[in-house]
Amino acid sequence: MAGLNLCFGLFLFGSIICFVSSGHSFKFMRSCDLAENERIVLRNQVKEMFRFGFESYIKAAYPRDNLLPLSCNGTDSMGGLLVTLIDNLDTLLIFEEYSLFMRYTLELESMFNIDVNRTVNIFETTIRVIGGLLSSHVLLTEASEVVGLADDFFPHYSGSLLRMAKELADRFLPAFDTPTGIPFGSIHLMNGVSSSESLIACTAGAGTLLLEFGTLSRLTGDPKYYDVAYRAMKSLFSHASSRGLLGKHIHIVNGRWLYNVTGVGGDADSFFEYLLKGFALFGNYELLKMFQSCHESIRSYLWNEPWYLDCDIEKGTAVSSVQSALSAFFPSLEVLCGNMNTASRSHKAFCSIFAKFGMLPEAFNIKKLAPVKGFGGYPLRPELFESNFYLFWATGDPALLSITRNAIWSLENLTKTSCGYSSIRDVNNHELDDMMESFFLSETCKYLLFSLTPDHWIYSGRFVLSTEAHPFLVPPAFSDGSHYKITELLKAPKCHRKSELKLVEKCGFETQDID
Ligand SMILES: *[C@@H]1O[C@H](CO)[C@@H](O)[C@H](O)[C@H]1NC(C)=O
Ligand SMILES: *[C@@H]1O[C@H](CO)[C@@H](O)[C@H](O)[C@H]1NC(C)=O
Ligand SMILES: *[C@@H]1O[C@H](CO)[C@@H](O)[C@H](O)[C@H]1NC(C)=O
Ligand SMILES: *[C@@H]1O[C@H](CO)[C@@H](O)[C@H](O)[C@H]1NC(C)=O
Repeated sequence: MAGLNLCFGLFLFGSIICFVSSGHSFKFMRSCDLAENERIVLRNQVKEMFRFGFESYIKAAYPRDNLLPLSCNGTDSMGGLLVTLIDNLDTLLIFEEYSLFMRYTLELESMFNIDVNRTVNIFETTIRVIGGLLSSHVLLTEASEVVGLADDFFPHYSGSLLRMAKELADRFLPAFDTPTGIPFGSIHLMNGVSSSESLIACTAGAGTLLLEFGTLSRLTGDPKYYDVAYRAMKSLFSHASSRGLLGKHIHIVNGRWLYNVTGVGGDADSFFEYLLKGFALFGNYELLKMFQSCHESIRSYLWNEPWYLDCDIEKGTAVSSVQSALSAFFPSLEVLCGNMNTASRSHKAFCSIFAKFGMLPEAFNIKKLAPVKGFGGYPLRPELFESNFYLFWATGDPALLSITRNAIWSLENLTKTSCGYSSIRDVNNHELDDMMESFFLSETCKYLLFSLTPDHWIYSGRFVLSTEAHPFLVPPAFSDGSHYKITELLKAPKCHRKSELKLVEKCGFETQDID
């Protein structure tokens, strides 16, 4: 196994060795250059993967939230809001499954009902459901030309997805009515916030709502959605420690941290993402400044090459040698800052773990290079392939495609069942777990498709991808012709960047010099 790290240590530099998984053991394969015909074969494999996963959901689980692939049944584990369907309406457009898109959008119009006796998680429901509804609406309307939809593509559409998103967001507004502006984590869809609801919020949950709420404000002309989501972010940021670090759990009444540890993985991750992407989408420089401050602290205290270690926000010292699989997204933010070297060093480290187990375990110890007991599962997450996509976008390096190929092989060989794709309970023995989360289709499949489709419209730079991989159109007001904030963002001076990223025709961005 020792050679595996070396193999991935070299993957950005030309000729490479990559691993091939077969059953429970791995063998090596040399020369991973991806020929054009192989790229097309792999892309078709991803399309088939999405189609099979989606059809399995429809057959066995619809209209429940999620598919249980081993039981071949559905479960309303997220409030019964048709989560996998809604989270994947835009995925249907992205995969050019146009007739399925129209059929299920029309069905949704008659089935969507939020007058149910259920409590839902505001963060998860916002990124999956509100995000899914809004991005599909935008692709269908404002962005239809970019997406290549004909004028008469869907004449029956009259804005229903936007109305559903607004209806749901309106139910969430009472949760923001707290002294700090930091919202409650969950809300009952009919009765509002329960009197027994927890007063402790996690940073990511409370601070990852702006792309969705802000887009809703832009589309409805009512600023209140943007305002509550933005206020929550400002409030979280205002509680940064003297070192500029934010804890993971905070009291929403008195603003005290209840868990004085920070990191780029679970409970904090997407807060940083939405500061940067919020700027890219809405052009608010306050968001960029907050991001730069957080990012500088992360680079000063957390970055222990090639890992970002969880750290005490007061002492500024590392508290753990455990990495969460969620942290594997962070190289994508480094890419957006132009920090290619850091991004690829960090990404390579995660890839070495991926290579070792054929999957990235939920948490692993970087000293023992082993999964943490009880956290050795792989729930079909996208983060590693998300960073791989951004690096590919930025560098066009075809060697990155070997990761994409290995991802497809791993998913096909290890997680495919007769009823969709299944999570893995333990990466040591690849035992299956009975769940296909909606993000497998909406994120994992999307990032793999993008990586294999260099002429995809996503590379136009006109969209910011949400933390659930929903594309949000950069509003025309924040762009002039070909100049979009996402490209301006890539020129941001204090993002530790020393290079200029330029839009190029084929692969998106080209980089010359690296940090
Ligand atoms: C399974 O992995 C092998 C390599 O071990 C690969 O050749 C094969 O194509 C994979 N199967 C599928 C269905 O992708
Ligand atoms: C699917 O699950 C539901 C409730 O969770 C149950 O009532 C039903 O019998 C299950 N169907 C199958 C085929 O197991
Ligand atoms: C709502 O559900 C709870 C339990 O989940 C139950 O105790 C309560 O009676 C239900 N309320 C109504 C109005 O059905
Ligand atoms: C976290 O640090 C703050 C000071 O910034 C302190 O007031 C608080 O008690 C600490 N919380 C915990 C749980 O240690």
